[in-house]
Amino acid sequence: MILEVKNLSKSFGGLKAIKQLNLTVNKGEITGLIGPNGSGKTTFFNVISGLLKPDMGTIIFDGKEVTGLPPHEICRSGIARTFQLTKPFARMPPLENVMVGRIYGCNPAKSMKQAREEAGEILRITGLDRKHVPIAAALGLVDRKRLEIARALATKPKLLLLDEMMAGLNSREIEDVIKLIQDIKDSGVTIILVEHVLKAVLKLSDRIIVLSAGEKIAEGFPHEVITNKKVVEAYLGEEQHYA
Ligand SMILES: Nc1ncnc2c1ncn2[C@@H]1O[C@H](COP(=O)(O)OP(=O)(O)OP(=O)(O)O)[C@@H](O)[C@H]1O
Ligand SMILES: [Mg+2]
Repeated sequence: MILEVKNLSKSFGGLKAIKQLNLTVNKGEITGLIGPNGSGKTTFFNVISGLLKPDMGTIIFDGKEVTGLPPHEICRSGIARTFQLTKPFARMPPLENVMVGRIYGCNPAKSMKQAREEAGEILRITGLDRKHVPIAAALGLVDRKRLEIARALATKPKLLLLDEMMAGLNSREIEDVIKLIQDIKDSGVTIILVEHVLKAVLKLSDRIIVLSAGEKIAEGFPHEVITNKKVVEAYLGEEQHYA
């Protein structure tokens, strides 16, 4: 187990976005986190990554409590995330975007030269090395998604939180991103995958956890979860929208 979340709650005013959530994530696995729009998936990532402080509950990562720590400390402890709406340093070249992670993340590079070399390698792994654009803002959607992953990988995470990497991509692009995520898992990184593209979730996930209105309504192996009645009622009835 690499992550253990106990009784986690987060409200926005009167809205309970996460309600006393208990869950665990196994080391080396891909855990799919699915659920309807507004069920609290991104809020969960925001709390785990330190962007938001939880109202209640405990987050234990890699044997240490990280509840309420600021984002840079959580990042250095080995958790990286991507954003649903991509957030590159838009006016900086892709390489420099990735260098930032190598300089400020876990196990930072010892020199600019090393940061540049390692960032170049991460651009290669993520399939961005042939994209010669002056600034990140010039990248197309799929490449901005890849850059999100590259920037997260640059911090050398043990746990990677992926928030809707496939949204808006065509099926060919989805296949490529599935392959990239599988490769990242095979390199030893544990992943939590928030995703509405079910085909990808089913293909990649070792286990799936389902949220609805901030609560865990099901968890288990992919085939168990997608036939679970509660899950069909709360979420999979909407599957057509995401096909
Ligand atoms: N910063 C915020 N301030 C106020 N309300 C918020 C904030 N962030 C999220 N919410 C609300 O919390 C609830 C959960 O939102 P969240 O973004 O976590 O859902 P989600 O599962 O990621 O949905 P989606 O699949 O659409 O991305 C929603 O009702 C949302 O409107
Ligand atoms: Mg979301």
